[in-house]
Amino acid sequence: MEVRYRIKRFNPERDRAPHWEEYKVPAEPTDRVLDGLHYVKWYIDGTLALRRSCAHGICGSDAMMINGRNQLACKILIKDAGRRVTVEPIRGMRVIKDLVVDMEPFFEKYRAVMPWLIAHDPAPEAERRQSPQERARFDDTTKCILCAACTTSCPIFWADGEYVGPAAIVNAHRFIFDSRDQGAEQRLAILAERSGVFRCKTTFNCTDACPRGIEVTKAIQDVKQAILLRRI
Ligand code: SF4
Ligand code: F3S
Ligand code: FES
Repeated sequence: MEVRYRIKRFNPERDRAPHWEEYKVPAEPTDRVLDGLHYVKWYIDGTLALRRSCAHGICGSDAMMINGRNQLACKILIKDAGRRVTVEPIRGMRVIKDLVVDMEPFFEKYRAVMPWLIAHDPAPEAERRQSPQERARFDDTTKCILCAACTTSCPIFWADGEYVGPAAIVNAHRFIFDSRDQGAEQRLAILAERSGVFRCKTTFNCTDACPRGIEVTKAIQDVKQAILLRRI
C-alpha cells in the first residue's frame, strides 16, 4: 500500500516559518510510523531531521505529534495511523530542525526535582530493604522513559513554560513515595512553589499521551495531597 506522509519541516537556518511537505511512502500495515520516516530520510530526502534510537519503545527519543496526538513513532503501526499520516514536532519546545526539539529545558525541570535516591542514614551492610507493599506505592512511576509526550501535551505547559510539568512530577513521585528515600521534604517544597504541582488543572492530556500507560494525573494528585497533608 502507499501511505502519504505530511511532515512539518523547519530549518531555522533557511526557513522563515515552518511549512508542510508531503511524501509518498510504500508501506505494509504492520510497519511502524518510524519505518516510513526512515524511508523518507533514506530514500527521498536525506535532510529530514528526527530523533530515534531503540526503535522499540524503550529510549523515549522519538515522541512526536502523529495525527494530532503525542505518540512514539516506533510504537504506532500504519494500520492504526491510516493512509494519511501527519507528523509534527512535540509542542511547546524550541524546534532545532524539523522533528528535533531542544529537550534541555525539559531535562532542567527533571533535574530540579532531584530524581535520585537521597539517603542520609549510613548504608546498611546488605541492601536497603523494602516490602512488596512499599515498592508498590511507586511502581507505576518507575516506568517513565522521559519521552516528554506528557509535558508537551499539557495546555498549562503551553501557556506557561515555567510550569515544571507532568514528567518532572512523575519522576519526583517515584522517589517521594519510596520508603528508602529521605528527600521527600525537599522535593515537596520545590513542587509546592508557584511553578509546581498546583499549576495542574487536572486536564488528563498527560495521562492520555503517556506511551507507558502511567497514570500521570493520579501521580500528580498523590503529590498534591502529600503537600497538603504536610501543611496540616
Ligand atoms: Fe513519557 Fe509517560 Fe514519562 Fe511522561 S510520564 S515522560 S509521557 S513515559
Ligand atoms: Fe496538564 Fe496533565 Fe495536569 S495535562 S493540567 S499536567 S492533568
Ligand atoms: Fe526509542 Fe521510539 S526510538 S522509544
